[in-house]
Amino acid sequence: MCGIVGYVGSQSALDVVMAGLKRLEYRGYDSAGVAVLADGGLAPAKRAGKLVNLEKELSERPLPTGTTGIGHTRWATHGGPTDANAHPHLDNAGRVAVVHNGIIENFAALRAELTGRGHGLASETDTEVVAHLLAEEFSSCADLAEAMRLVCRRLEGAFTLVAVHADEPDVVVGARRNSPLVVGIGEGEAFLASDVAAFIAHTREAVELGQDQVVELRRDGVTVTGFDGRPADVRAYHVDWDASAAQKDGYASFMLKEIAEQPKAVADTLLGRIDEAGSLTLDEVRIPAAELREIDKVVIVACGTAFHAGLIAKYAIEHWTRIPCEVELASEFRYRDPILDPRSLVIAISQSGETMDTLMALRHAREQGSRVLAICNTNGSTIPRESDAVLYTHAGPEVAVASTKAFLTQLVACYLVALYLGQVRGTKWGDEIRAVVRDLARISGAVDQVLGTMEPVRELARSLAGKDTVLFLGRHVGYPVALEGALKLKELAYMHAEGFAAGELKHGPIALIEQDVPVVVVVPSPRGRSLLHDKIVSNIQEIRARGARTIVIAEEGDATVEPYADHLIRIPATPTLLQPLVATVPLQVFACELATARGNEVDQPRNLAKSVTVE
Ligand code: M6R
Repeated sequence: MCGIVGYVGSQSALDVVMAGLKRLEYRGYDSAGVAVLADGGLAPAKRAGKLVNLEKELSERPLPTGTTGIGHTRWATHGGPTDANAHPHLDNAGRVAVVHNGIIENFAALRAELTGRGHGLASETDTEVVAHLLAEEFSSCADLAEAMRLVCRRLEGAFTLVAVHADEPDVVVGARRNSPLVVGIGEGEAFLASDVAAFIAHTREAVELGQDQVVELRRDGVTVTGFDGRPADVRAYHVDWDASAAQKDGYASFMLKEIAEQPKAVADTLLGRIDEAGSLTLDEVRIPAAELREIDKVVIVACGTAFHAGLIAKYAIEHWTRIPCEVELASEFRYRDPILDPRSLVIAISQSGETMDTLMALRHAREQGSRVLAICNTNGSTIPRESDAVLYTHAGPEVAVASTKAFLTQLVACYLVALYLGQVRGTKWGDEIRAVVRDLARISGAVDQVLGTMEPVRELARSLAGKDTVLFLGRHVGYPVALEGALKLKELAYMHAEGFAAGELKHGPIALIEQDVPVVVVVPSPRGRSLLHDKIVSNIQEIRARGARTIVIAEEGDATVEPYADHLIRIPATPTLLQPLVATVPLQVFACELATARGNEVDQPRNLAKSVTVE
């Protein structure tokens, strides 16, 4: 949450920072602001609302040109989305400016202390105290990096901070505890950002900052220390995608582009993980096979869409490995004192690798001695850094707030982990694994096929734009797919949407059915567990008898459902466990189109941010 950019070099800092903020706007869009060091002073500008408001402000009141600057795009925590609460925050003399991502938990005490010493604070934010503390420390040490270290030692909570001081015109200083911050190294210039997307147009050479580190950026290099001032080890890496991957490429939205990229994302996630004999070679899973054979429980922790991927993974893990698997919302996990020990394998699923709830859950698991395997899409992010091993999904950057290609690739990664556990523990024969691997290899083509048949789904979505409610039903792995369909619609179309296990209908939710309520039903393959199929066909009849307008997602050739479907969406035949990979796609398209028809901005739905870095 919140996007941060810092720059020092020879280009116009304002241009670099504004372009970076544009790339980071998905992280929050309650307000935006910049500060540039120029003419011996500090020139700030900030506005509530989206970046476009700040652009307008800057065109009306241009800032002086400077080559050092910082910027921020906000997802509000402390204080409403107003001009005054927008970052950067300044000290009373207007010499230091700071931007922040996270929450400073002891800000009230610090604020009281500062007011007691005569500081005047102008906003309701937790961030502003940092500007004042930095000014105080700088006045005695005249070194912004040192001032930052001293201040950070006094802060509690999760924070990424980036600051500049008018008395050190060619320096940007950043600090990191929990929330993300990456350094970009260019020729005679350096960058700081919450995400490499902010500087990928300038450099692909990045440095990952660790916990409790402070970085000082100058044109000729960067210096990293711990909060205690000791030099720190850092990991440099090359970003393996370029600026074009973070552009819309002619699509009306990032979401549409990312939906279309799914066949490639799925194929890329399988790449290099299957040897010529068809066995799995997950070298990244560095947990020794002997330990994996001792595992007696798998626990999956994740949030939102990633949680839905986890729910689906449970079916595969238990079916293929016979190891009990629990799936838990990361935000609930550590508070209920879960039973964990060194024989529990905890799988943390996260696109961003920065979701604070998931990070806290994995830390809790490690404290109990459990092994943690991350499934993640973001190289160098915190969750993989703090896990015993990581299996990266190769979805490429996902910019739209609503997760699409990340979800499909998370599923692929979960299936690979489940099969790998089956392989290592000998619960699946080699030929059985090869058969599933062959099925997985066909999924990319099947997703492509679904994408080619989406026009009727778009038309249907447009026709439902005036509805208040859409319900989603599924059974078995179709149940989490229904939950995911409902989540997509809620977050994008701002409609009442709920997903149910179809069997639960008669235990309450069927009371929601009234004349013409659209109900999307995900029907399992009739070739798989036919009992499952029969039961859901009965459920469709039950809701239809009560007036529901049925939108049925069913496999090609499944004729049984035809009489009961007001709208029929066909998907290619897949094995039961893999069906979510194709059944989810029409639901993504449906939500995207319906939200667009309601006039909503699909890439930046209201109140949300892509990366949820506060608990
Ligand atoms: O980055 P993560 O995968 O950890 O994010 C988890 C959720 O915040 C995320 O999936 C969210 O639910 C999506 N916006 C849903 O589309």
